[in-house]
Amino acid sequence: MLPEVSSTGEIFLKNSTRIFTILASAAFAVSAYAGSHNLVTADVNDPVSLRINLMQNAGAATGLASGMMKGNIPFDPIAAQAALATINTAALGLPGLFPAGMEENMRSSAGPAIWSDAAGFNSAMAKFISDTGAAKSSAPASVEELQAAFAAVGANCQACHKAYRIKR
Ligand code: HEC
Repeated sequence: MLPEVSSTGEIFLKNSTRIFTILASAAFAVSAYAGSHNLVTADVNDPVSLRINLMQNAGAATGLASGMMKGNIPFDPIAAQAALATINTAALGLPGLFPAGMEENMRSSAGPAIWSDAAGFNSAMAKFISDTGAAKSSAPASVEELQAAFAAVGANCQACHKAYRIKR
């Protein structure tokens, strides 16, 4: 069974005690702030459309990882690896997609701190790249290993969204 992921990327958690703590951080990260979009057409000349698509792909991959951690989807090492690789690819794609002069865009939930604190945002992106790269390289061979790898990844979602996203 696939996890239910709403249009806002929110993952509806079933009551699961054992892994709830780990999932709570991931679920918060994905659901943090409304203002998500459905089906934004990717346009190579529009970085806003590209970063929204990258983030939505990261959200979908997080849904797959969460489903396996909850036991709704049978654990499969190749699927886990693909989920972590997808999130890493989203991280690798972000730099360069927040050009100066594009702070105001009604489709975007990117916050002004991205530009006013560019150094902080750059280190958040660098950390996301590094942590997701390490998670991918760890190639989890069990649910427990996926939980350990994903905990470090999910912390990035939450921290960056809190500091660098606004509600639209
Ligand atoms: C380095 C900062 C950063 C990290 C880390 C990060 N995000 Fe994001 N995320 C953003 C920003 C900025 C936006 C708003 C983009 C926009 O609307 O222009 C966003 C938007 C989103 C959206 C909404 C997309 C839409 O439909 O508008 C989802 C879903 C999302 N992120 C999921 C994730 C997940 C899951 C993770 C962790 C695996 C993650 N993000 C990690 C910065 C980050």
